[in-house]
Amino acid sequence: MVLGRLMHYAVDAVLLSTVVAGVRRSSGFSLNASAIPDPTARSAAETFLSVGETVFDMIQATAVNSTYFKKDSKGSR
Ligand SMILES: *[C@@H]1O[C@H](CO)[C@@H](O)[C@H](O)[C@H]1NC(C)=O
Ligand SMILES: *[C@@H]1O[C@H](CO)[C@@H](O)[C@H](O)[C@H]1NC(C)=O
Repeated sequence: MVLGRLMHYAVDAVLLSTVVAGVRRSSGFSLNASAIPDPTARSAAETFLSVGETVFDMIQATAVNSTYFKKDSKGSR
């Protein structure tokens, strides 16, 4: 099943991108996309990162109202 494998890679990529977005939100460090010399690859990387941002926002919005998440007052913020 080629399609299934593609789906698997797509899901993995989204998860990775979400982790990168999460690191960026919590530490302020993001990947330096301008370090990628090839414009096509750079814009692909930027798209990839913005997908992560979007997914992260969605998860955060869900978590805020979910009873499965609680606010940790001792947390970093
Ligand atoms: C990002 O990478 C580019 C190209 O290597 C470099 O010129 C730039 O200084 C880097 N930006 C940061 C914030 O390190
Ligand atoms: C979360 O709940 C509040 C109050 O019920 C509501 O105003 C808000 O729109 C909800 N946010 C999301 C992301 O569902």
